[in-house]
Amino acid sequence: MNFKDNLTQKTTETEAVIKAYLPAEEGYQKTVLEAMNYSFLVGGKRLRPLLMKESFALFGGEGDLCNPFMAAIEMIHTYSLVHDDLPEMDNDELRRGMPTTHVKYGVDMAVLAGDGLLNYAFETALQAFDVAGEKEFSRVVHAMKVLARKAGVYGMIGGQTLDVEAEKKGIGLGLPEVSFIDEHKTAALLQASLMIGAILAGAGEEEVHAMETIGYNVGVAFQIQDDILDITSSTEVLGKPVGSDEKNSKVTYVSLMGMEAAEEKQKSLSDEAVTLLRGLGKEASFMEELILSLVHRKM
Ligand code: IPE
Ligand code: IPE
Ligand code: MG
Ligand code: MG
Ligand code: MG
Repeated sequence: MNFKDNLTQKTTETEAVIKAYLPAEEGYQKTVLEAMNYSFLVGGKRLRPLLMKESFALFGGEGDLCNPFMAAIEMIHTYSLVHDDLPEMDNDELRRGMPTTHVKYGVDMAVLAGDGLLNYAFETALQAFDVAGEKEFSRVVHAMKVLARKAGVYGMIGGQTLDVEAEKKGIGLGLPEVSFIDEHKTAALLQASLMIGAILAGAGEEEVHAMETIGYNVGVAFQIQDDILDITSSTEVLGKPVGSDEKNSKVTYVSLMGMEAAEEKQKSLSDEAVTLLRGLGKEASFMEELILSLVHRKM
């Protein structure tokens, strides 16, 4: 099968796994449950759960242990987008080709839907204990720790903090700060995906560390492409507003270094990721192609 068809098939499979964990829309809190599911189901590449599953398989993982974590990472990612789009954050009204959650449900429900998704992500990930065999218990504990850390103030939230603070207060940003922002707001969840897949499959410490480094490279390259598309793409293709960074006076690798240097940086980061992946000595041709394709993605 060629790479594109393979990716489509794997994305469809991923979609089926993660959807199964969504909460039922019922009870007095129905509105928030609807807003959560709306944000989640409206679309998206499903890259993080897909990478998690690939990493799990790469290290010989079999069975369903990874499934609750696949849903959980996509819930956390989705909540980060719901909050990222809020009027007091990036103030964007379109996401995944549809009105953002606060446009559809109001800011109050969007805040709660984000909170709901974050908390439900942990409720969901904890379901892994229900399917874990005895020797897998400690792996699930380790995976929970990585999920919590990479989503939090030392991960994604940390990156978002500097991103919005710099913009609001006009703090001058240089390369070290932009590098911190991208490593945390974006790479952290990709690192978590790759690390958790490896951990649940029983990979060793060095292998998990290698996946963390690969996730760093892939994640920063991914954000650079996101920043490039914010300038060069169209709203129709992206499914979210272009020019959001300029509107918010964001400092990115592109605004700091120029388009050409940013593209070079992006390329060297993904090449480095592939070199590290090859160094693991495993059959990883799909993951390799996936990493390289992200540099050329159109959305
Ligand atoms: C968007 O992530 C936010 C960034 C971290 C750049 P994605 O580009 O993975 O968004 P979806 O999930 O496909 O909508
Ligand atoms: C967001 O970065 C990263 C998150 C943690 C949500 P951006 O603000 O550039 O993401 P988009 O472009 O809105 O998807
Ligand atoms: Mg943002
Ligand atoms: Mg944004
Ligand atoms: Mg962006």
